[in-house]
Amino acid sequence: MPHKLTVLDHPLVRHKLTVLRNRHTPVPIFRATVQELSMMVAYEAMRDLRLTSVRVETPLEITEAPTLEGPRPLLVPILRAGLGMTEGILKLIPDADVGHIGLYRNEDTLEPVDYYFKVPADAADRRVFLLDPMLATGGSAVHAIWHLEKAGVKHLKLLTLIAAPEGVAAVERAYPDIPVFTAALDRKLNDVGYILPGLGDAGDRIFGTL
Ligand code: PRP
Ligand code: URA
Repeated sequence: MPHKLTVLDHPLVRHKLTVLRNRHTPVPIFRATVQELSMMVAYEAMRDLRLTSVRVETPLEITEAPTLEGPRPLLVPILRAGLGMTEGILKLIPDADVGHIGLYRNEDTLEPVDYYFKVPADAADRRVFLLDPMLATGGSAVHAIWHLEKAGVKHLKLLTLIAAPEGVAAVERAYPDIPVFTAALDRKLNDVGYILPGLGDAGDRIFGTL
């Protein structure tokens, strides 16, 4: 396994992945489960966020207690499906800011097509978490990382729910230093670039556009 890849290993994660894989899971449950799993992946990926301390008054005494150090982390979902992850992670860390990268895969060439990019001017100083539930060929993630590095981002992690070995290899080849966190590493891509066993089209299943 690539040294920068973390695959979550927890019964709750596995259980929730099965809910996502099931083609009969209704849209509201699918959406809620994407949010829950995203929180779990983020929990792991944010383990090294820096802390500082503040004085707080408990009901019993005044004490020094840890709190997240600034600047606020930046979540950057790849549109559309990354938005589903954002909603969950914001519940975990409501202080985070959110940039956006608009990309879709050309269905014939599987190459990413750009349509939007917006991150804060001080993105270079932030801890940045790039969000996309599916890492398939890796084309979208590699392109998004390129955009973020061009914007000066230095501290970047990629968070996904399901990754294909082909996508992990593509990110590792292009950006060997970028850590990748995923809830599952699936078997392979099919001949039209979908992950097997996967969950189908994440954007369509989150937004009910099947
Ligand atoms: C899906 C998914 C990723 C991309 C992964 O998005 O959310 O962004 O495909 O595939 P890749 O690793 O081969 O690039 P899609 O292009 O379907 O766009 P959408 O989210 O707007 O539906
Ligand atoms: N994008 C998806 O939404 N699902 C896949 O299996 C591959 C790319």
